[in-house]
Amino acid sequence: MTTKVILSFVVSALLLGCSPTNQDKPTTTTEPVSASETPTTVQAIKSDKDYHSYGNPDEVKVTNLALDLTVDFADKMLKGSVELDFERIKPDAKALVLDTRALNILNVSAAGKTLNYTLAEADGVLGSALTIELPATGNKVKVEYQTSPEASGVQWLTPAQTAGKKQPFLFTQAQAIHARSFIPLQDSPQVRVTYQATIRTPKELLAVMSAANDPDTARDGEYEFAMPQPIPSYLIALAVGDLHFKAMGERTGVYAESYILDAAAAEFEDTESMLIATEKTFGPYSWDRYDLLILPPSFPFGGMENPRLSFITPTVIAGDKSLVSLIAHELAHSWSGNTVTNATWRDLWLNEGFTTYLTYRIMEMVYGEKRFAMEAVLGRQDLQADIDSLPADDQIMAIDLRGRDPDAVFSNIPYEKGALFLRELEQKVGRAAFDEFLLGYFQHFAFQSITTDQFEAYLHANLVKQHSDVLSMDRINQWIHAAGVPEGAPVPESDAFTTVDQVRNAWLAGSLAAANIVNDDWTVHQWLYFLNNMPEKLSQAQLTELDAAFGLTASHNNEIAHSWLLISVNNWYEPAFTRLHEYLVSIGRNKLVKPLYKALSQTPEGKKMAQKAFAQAKDGYHPLTVKTNEVFVE
Ligand code: BES
Ligand code: ZN
Repeated sequence: MTTKVILSFVVSALLLGCSPTNQDKPTTTTEPVSASETPTTVQAIKSDKDYHSYGNPDEVKVTNLALDLTVDFADKMLKGSVELDFERIKPDAKALVLDTRALNILNVSAAGKTLNYTLAEADGVLGSALTIELPATGNKVKVEYQTSPEASGVQWLTPAQTAGKKQPFLFTQAQAIHARSFIPLQDSPQVRVTYQATIRTPKELLAVMSAANDPDTARDGEYEFAMPQPIPSYLIALAVGDLHFKAMGERTGVYAESYILDAAAAEFEDTESMLIATEKTFGPYSWDRYDLLILPPSFPFGGMENPRLSFITPTVIAGDKSLVSLIAHELAHSWSGNTVTNATWRDLWLNEGFTTYLTYRIMEMVYGEKRFAMEAVLGRQDLQADIDSLPADDQIMAIDLRGRDPDAVFSNIPYEKGALFLRELEQKVGRAAFDEFLLGYFQHFAFQSITTDQFEAYLHANLVKQHSDVLSMDRINQWIHAAGVPEGAPVPESDAFTTVDQVRNAWLAGSLAAANIVNDDWTVHQWLYFLNNMPEKLSQAQLTELDAAFGLTASHNNEIAHSWLLISVNNWYEPAFTRLHEYLVSIGRNKLVKPLYKALSQTPEGKKMAQKAFAQAKDGYHPLTVKTNEVFVE
């Protein structure tokens, strides 16, 4: 195949740190609705209630955290304390309630005096409420604690599981409800805090956080951080490893292990242009620097928008910038998500839908219309696949998550349906008017966490009223609160895909041999479109012919490899299975491995292969990847 692979980057077969399983046992609790139970009577959702936190910010609200943590690689524990500043919203409030999961609470005090507290029995999804009796005066409490080696939001990698082999690595992933597994806090996106941290590590290692990072800091094992803007708990993040820094632009740079530092800086060299283009259209960047951190391949997501420092999977470093829309996406969250934040996990579409819309806009500004159009068509196809497979209730953007684990409800709905909805608004009122609306929206709600209801009220007052000839709240309601995509929604189209359809059809009809297909100039997106739209069943002869002509089994592009391996599993194309095994044990990104495990689990022979790969990889997978995929190998 002809996709240029400048960097033949083999995602190290090492992978993957230790593999905790969630040992919390589901138990019955009363307040809030236990996420491990479905409520028996259907009550109306309170739109501003966070059903995934025990915290009591309506009574006592935490406003600042001061962390002092030692990173103990031998014990796989963070050990130390957090001092929480709080505000008494109800002056007669008696207790501060925090979220925790599998934390070992050693002492709770205020001004040096021990306080009484209770730690509730653990709920399988929500963890344990920590209820602290408040001191009569003052507005600070200190909790001394240690994390569990199985913390759901932390992955510990041994030196052997890193690329450099010499030093261990640690990273956190707090979204959606995992910050509570490494800090006792009010773990709700409604609660915004500033934070300071002292992080103590082995001397040779560098710690970085979702905060001000000094690229020139002395590597002495003691690192100070400050996040002066109030952020929701799911954006608190820490990583520690043999990290090095390389600048990309004036405000942008990359942290990574040395093996991939130069490749990452080259792949993502357009980050500064993306930042400048986004500011021009959607208002000033609020967070000072924008750096990237390249994680080990076990990172369970593509990216995570930790403020000032997005966490990025190495699986998008393809050598040709073909997968950099991920960077546009995480950068866009600096506006939609980090500046204006979803108030509860029901409102996730406000984060991800706006961000996906902004991502398309950034890709268009930086890489042009053709690139944007291809990505929009692929996104629309991903959305359709979910609409065709998810139950109706799960196709609703403002989804009812009561009694459910947010980790188990991940889909394209909040992303691509949200983006398509915003695209429709744009098309109806015109780009200039819509951009002005978005600019105003980001300013109006800056550093606030808002519900879908608040958004709807704002949209009505600031766009629908002015454009009542083309917009109606009825249709907007349908987008946000009904399944599917409304009739007459925008239809993304790409000319570059027309020839791909022609070639695929001619090949399938037998009128064009794969060896005679002239497609030296196809982009990665054209390849993905070519593969993703193959019929479900292909013959062995057809698969062999494609593989011989284009070397698909050997593709180093992780997205193309994913599409091809999925076809190979669904059609039992054995020549790809060695590569499939290598892929599954070297990558822990859920989006790439989950569909493969799922497809393998459909047949007894496939399940055996899945079991073999999972058993080999499990120790190195992130807790979330273990939780998501173990169901397919049981
Ligand atoms: N914030 C998300 C990741 C996330 C969402 C973690 C919900 C936990 C719960 C991040 O910005 C994201 O959307 N990542 C995508 C990127 C893709 C859509 C470009 C991913 O990881 O695949
Ligand atoms: Zn996102």
